[in-house]
Amino acid sequence: MCDVAPHKLRIQLAPLQGFTEAPFRNALEECFGGVDVFYTPFIRIEHGEVRKRSLRDALPEVNKVSCIVPQIIASTYDEAQILINALSEQGHQRVDINMGCPFPALALRGKGSGILSQPDKVAEVLRVVQENPSIRFSVKMRLGYEQPDECLALLPILNDIDLVQVAVHARVGKQQYKGVCNLQAFVEFAEGCRHPLYYNGDVCTLQDIERLHAQFPFIEGVMMGRGLLAHPWVAYEYASGILLLDGKRKECMRTFHAHLFDYYAQHLEGGETQLLQKMKTFWEYLMPETDRKLLKRIHKTHCIADYTADVHQIFL
Ligand SMILES: Cc1cc2nc3c(=O)[nH]c(=O)nc-3n(C[C@H](O)[C@H](O)[C@H](O)COP(=O)(O)O)c2cc1C
Repeated sequence: MCDVAPHKLRIQLAPLQGFTEAPFRNALEECFGGVDVFYTPFIRIEHGEVRKRSLRDALPEVNKVSCIVPQIIASTYDEAQILINALSEQGHQRVDINMGCPFPALALRGKGSGILSQPDKVAEVLRVVQENPSIRFSVKMRLGYEQPDECLALLPILNDIDLVQVAVHARVGKQQYKGVCNLQAFVEFAEGCRHPLYYNGDVCTLQDIERLHAQFPFIEGVMMGRGLLAHPWVAYEYASGILLLDGKRKECMRTFHAHLFDYYAQHLEGGETQLLQKMKTFWEYLMPETDRKLLKRIHKTHCIADYTADVHQIFL
């Protein structure tokens, strides 16, 4: 774990369902580092109970990173409280509240970004903050669901409670992950927000981080998602100030990939097919500069030996 110099922004790993589960988080910290806080993908109530697989992902014993924060998603106080109880039983003292997920199946039920246009529902869910004084809370949100100024109406609610931080993905829910981030709307929210603020959205390179720091000197840090899925070394390079030479970078990537591969080879029950399927999902984002033919072969293969040979070639 790197100590980040005070003049540097802090870097947090954004949660990405299906990607940033414990094996990814552990491998990222062990092989690269540079990330201060790792969030679990959201944990939710499913068929009336807390989704077990997600809870397992938050267990302290499966998380080797120095700072793990479980994230919950809920549309009511009661739902949020059930999730918090389950996490505090695991020993967690920090919880992040998701108010950003754009998936229509959840958003249309008033969860994730679907809650942002309803200040009374936001206030209801956030009542858990006062009701659980032994837990420290943070919020990850978007600018709104339909309109980028919906977040402004939430400022009095957010400012009235104790939060470790607020992270804002500078899009609205209905944009999903497309279109440009709305930096002007982010600034307007920032001007009224009294909590430490993290910027999120399309932060991919060292230059992006430095540009954001210059543009938004008031932020405490950035939350990076797809940028770290693509180039897991960027947080290390930023925090340490050391650029990895090509050979060293490939060596670290080889180890990083081996960690993921070995973990899933041991833990997935569906054999080679499931293992390949899982590893291919990482290549949806990983190192997009890789030779296109090689990437295509990886996505098409049904054979572990071919997969391994192609990956070997990438990290040569
Ligand atoms: C596949 C996928 C899964 C995601 N899962 C979550 C999640 O579980 N919780 C959450 O708060 N955000 C989730 N997000 C949103 C990311 O955390 C992040 O806010 C978004 O990708 C923008 O940041 P980026 O441009 O750095 O990736 C997800 C995004 C993607 C693409």
